[in-house]
Amino acid sequence: MRVLGIETSCDETGVAVYDTALAGAAALRAQALYSQIALHAEYGGVVPELASRDHVRKLVPLIRETLAQAGMTPADLDGVAYTAGPGLVGALLVGAGVARSLAWALEVPAIGVHHMEGHLLAPLIEDDPPAPPFVALLVSGGHTQLVAVEAIGRYRLLGETLDDAAGEAFDKTAKLMGLPYPGGPQLAALAAQSDKVPGTPGAYRFSRPMTDRPGLDFSFSGLKTQVLLAWQGSDRSEATRADIARGFEDAVVDTLAIKCARALDAAGSDTLVVAGGVGANRRLRERLAAMCAQRGGRACFPRPALCTDNGAMIAFAGALRLQAGQHDDASVRAVPRWDMATLSPLAA
Ligand code: KG4
Ligand code: ZN
Repeated sequence: MRVLGIETSCDETGVAVYDTALAGAAALRAQALYSQIALHAEYGGVVPELASRDHVRKLVPLIRETLAQAGMTPADLDGVAYTAGPGLVGALLVGAGVARSLAWALEVPAIGVHHMEGHLLAPLIEDDPPAPPFVALLVSGGHTQLVAVEAIGRYRLLGETLDDAAGEAFDKTAKLMGLPYPGGPQLAALAAQSDKVPGTPGAYRFSRPMTDRPGLDFSFSGLKTQVLLAWQGSDRSEATRADIARGFEDAVVDTLAIKCARALDAAGSDTLVVAGGVGANRRLRERLAAMCAQRGGRACFPRPALCTDNGAMIAFAGALRLQAGQHDDASVRAVPRWDMATLSPLAA
């Protein structure tokens, strides 16, 4: 089954084709992404109306490009998957409208995919994928969740952030340090400079929020205040900026690693799946891989390009559900807020 995937929930237009007849990463036949970073940069964050309008401009050319890359025509498609939520409603409606219309014209089924299920399943696109049960850490700009994955589609929330998401904490902290939007990758790059002369990794130590008491919830909003105080009292030299960034990154990475180990204990598992934009962070990847290896298990990540928003994860998640016989009725579905625990399992 060849499925077109469309992602338009926020500031990236993503399109991909996934072919269930092929094995491993080769099943991802083609993908294309258009990032709106330059469009929103001058506002310091995503402007929803501008995001929607840009998806309108970019989506159809991107679908053409992806099909051409795969050597396919629209008639070769057996189904269409699109992000139905959660996300910005106007942005979601663009993808949902185009996907639904295309499916109708081609007389193939369409399915609305949960964006976070897309992220969660992205590591399974890669070769040698893990099989449930496992624990998933979802770390994106809008979510920080630990999820027990009992089966594909059966998700039990173990813990989540009580305030800012990990990606949001990266972005806000980067902003207060004067880094351009989106701050996560910029802050990580600055933190890497701390290892270089004259930087001093470890010069700034921030707290590991909520790790000194039991539980699997997170709180990241206090960290940016700690960074702000350190920032205001500093000389703001290149080395100091890098050391502060490193102190922040260490605090987030440590906190996530401590809670992941706890979640694995609670779920009786040694397999951790990591997904979402912050999953692209090199030091987080190294830390979680080492933690899982030490337990005799493994941490599974998608390649960094499949951690951040993309069409491939939507094509894949949609393909699994379409293949299991699920599809939506002929309506355009956009669900800005949507709890992943309400999803139906793949098999009854
Ligand atoms: O999953 P994603 O692309 O979009 C959402 O669904 O939110 O995640 C975007 C988030 C942003 O907050 C971005 O700053 C963060 O992921 N991010 C990173 C890195 N790359 C992206 N944070 C830390 N280190 C990175 N290398
Ligand atoms: Zn996302």
